[in-house]
Amino acid sequence: MLYSDKVLEHFANPHNVGEIADADGVGEVGNAKCGDIMKMYLKIQNGVITDAKFKTFGCGAAIATSSMATDMIKGATIEDALKLSNQAVVEALDGLPASKIHCSVLAEQAVKSALSDYYRRQGVDPTPIVGNVEECEACHGL
Ligand code: FES
Repeated sequence: MLYSDKVLEHFANPHNVGEIADADGVGEVGNAKCGDIMKMYLKIQNGVITDAKFKTFGCGAAIATSSMATDMIKGATIEDALKLSNQAVVEALDGLPASKIHCSVLAEQAVKSALSDYYRRQGVDPTPIVGNVEECEACHGL
């Protein structure tokens, strides 16, 4: 089987899909090559992510990793959310095929993009905290 049960489960019934109207941070990342776009909405109170939702026009692996990533950052501090690597999300999903690992990067970058927006709204330069948010450049149309 190419995909784990957890990936298939999150793809069939993704968690946290939608928008947050009064979000404190909104991020969008995408890749022109594969056409996948991800938008992430975060609600943040006292440095803690109280809610996270996403919308994606993307592949199944991107949906499953975003579903898992949003589950993992809900209730986490900003510091911990920034430490969430795509590798940790992939492990929580019991793995992804090698050719789809790059899709999990899209979820990680979407979280970072939304946190950058959060800092910008506070008048804080996010680059020293969040780093440069890169787009998923590994897709190559897969
Ligand atoms: Fe899945 Fe690019 S993010 S194909």
